[in-house]
Amino acid sequence: MTGRLQDKVVLISGTGGGQGRVAALRFAREGAIVVGCDTNVDAHGATASLLRAEGLTLFGAAPVDLGDPAQAEAWVEAAAQEHGRIDVLYNNASAARFGPVNELSIEDWQFTMRNEIDLLFYTTKYAWNHLAQRRGVIINISSTAGWGGSKVAGISAHAAAKGAVIAFTRQLAVEGAAVGIRAVSISPGFIATPGTAAFMDNPQVRAALLDGVLMDRPGEPEEVVAMALFVASAEASFITGSDIVIDGGLLAI
Ligand SMILES: NC(=O)c1ccc[n+]([C@@H]2O[C@H](COP(=O)([O-])OP(=O)(O)OC[C@H]3O[C@@H](n4cnc5c(N)ncnc54)[C@H](O)[C@@H]3O)[C@@H](O)[C@H]2O)c1
Repeated sequence: MTGRLQDKVVLISGTGGGQGRVAALRFAREGAIVVGCDTNVDAHGATASLLRAEGLTLFGAAPVDLGDPAQAEAWVEAAAQEHGRIDVLYNNASAARFGPVNELSIEDWQFTMRNEIDLLFYTTKYAWNHLAQRRGVIINISSTAGWGGSKVAGISAHAAAKGAVIAFTRQLAVEGAAVGIRAVSISPGFIATPGTAAFMDNPQVRAALLDGVLMDRPGEPEEVVAMALFVASAEASFITGSDIVIDGGLLAI
């Protein structure tokens, strides 16, 4: 059977994490050649094992720190050399630090910028010419934090970086149109992942985070990845420059 992404070479960052793991599995099941990476060796390895159990392969490497431009370039170039092309760049990995703006350290601010927006520039810069040869697709994961503030957590650095992801993506769409590249950002709301499980276990925090979510529950990684799969596929051929919000209705009120 032919998958929706049959033989497409797809680079997915953060394949050790909640959404990256589901994305690696889902994309590989659809026939994609998935090249992942993560700073977390064990988590990336666990994802590789899950694919192997289904007779699939997770290519790529760990540890790879995409906040380091040299490592980002090496990851992208190794994928292009090994597989001969890059069809999709799925910028999923990120790490942020939180705190009230007057207490947030300079180091926490810079850490968040490095790991939420700088790394997108690096992977995009190095993958661009490969994508241009294939009418490729760039998917950048932003957040509803890019659209509004939070009463629950001090997200100034995270919000600034995720807002930048959306603006960066729009410009990629503009420059990409000339060479056939589509660029789309996706803004999830609160998603249940290993990283957010601790919040869910605390009833007060859970209630505060779900306040305003019309669906009255966190989203599942699969609900974000399903959109990413569609965006990566030829079915989304007229979609570029958009930000697609997946938030259970949070921004509706
Ligand atoms: N979970 C949520 O509620 C939520 C909401 C909105 C947006 N998002 C976004 O979704 C994306 C996926 O997040 P997730 O929920 O799966 O989180 P996660 O923490 O489970 O996964 C992120 C992965 O990225 C890796 N990573 C971080 N920095 C890296 C770097 N410099 N180089 C390589 N790998 C790095 C981490 O090790 C981790 O495995 C992120 O961009 C996140 O900001 C998540």
